[in-house]
Amino acid sequence: MAEVDAQKCFDVALDLVKQAGKVVREAIKKKKNIETKSSAVDLVTESDKAVEKMLISGLSEAFPDHKFIGEESVSAGEKCVLTDEPTWIIDPIDGTMNFVHSFPYTCISVGLWVKKEALVGVVYNPVLEQMFTAIKGQGAFLNGEKLSVSGEKDLGQALVFSEMGTSRDQEKVNTVLTNITNLMPKVHGFRSMGSAAMHMAYVALSAADAYFGFGAHCWDTAAGFLLVKEAGGIVIDTEGGPFDIMRRRVLCASSQELAEKISKLLKQYQPERDGVSK
Ligand code: IPD
Repeated sequence: MAEVDAQKCFDVALDLVKQAGKVVREAIKKKKNIETKSSAVDLVTESDKAVEKMLISGLSEAFPDHKFIGEESVSAGEKCVLTDEPTWIIDPIDGTMNFVHSFPYTCISVGLWVKKEALVGVVYNPVLEQMFTAIKGQGAFLNGEKLSVSGEKDLGQALVFSEMGTSRDQEKVNTVLTNITNLMPKVHGFRSMGSAAMHMAYVALSAADAYFGFGAHCWDTAAGFLLVKEAGGIVIDTEGGPFDIMRRRVLCASSQELAEKISKLLKQYQPERDGVSK
């Protein structure tokens, strides 16, 4: 496998994400063509498809040997397989429900994973002009300013994000509600913004102390994972143990202590893994 130039990959991705951001910024103000996917609340618009096409065509032109996992390509039947090869994992619009409602917490998420490790991560909210970036070993940044997680250890002082998700499977809904019921009295504040990638970026920013969720796909977490790690945070499986990007369970926190406290309180749920062929 040829050596991967992380800086070059980052530069090309950043440029394309900025261009894609213009499309999202314009489209969010307008009426959207909405289709549903796995459930009545799992949405896709023409902008999701256009942005994904734009990113994949630009990246594949610059890096013809690289592989891709894109949310809308997978929905359209492409395989969702993460190998050791350099793989761009793309969510063209994370928080599509927010985008549809013109709620400004929506972003483009692009992660490059090589040998199943995160190398580059970009999460861009073009509406709020927040560009979160990271290259492995070089720190995480918001609009060029270095980020550091809060370091909070005390659950009672923690602002915690979680998510309803797009599945309406009864066991999943019960898990979400049980976790809210159990955690709400114990945390300082409980929030939900409707975008897994934004949640992770905000933990890196130290605007929140933790995020957990069941059901986010690899394209929702691929870039956010690196942002949190590079900002000094923890990203693990909801049950504890290493984060598995295809397992669709994520718990990130500003400290190991906080991650463990939250993990012990969670009712667990296992969504179908990414990459299981239908
Ligand atoms: C969704 C968002 C949401 C998460 C869902 C995702 P999408 O992504 O990240 O926060 O709870 O599991 O599917 O569909 O808007 O790209």
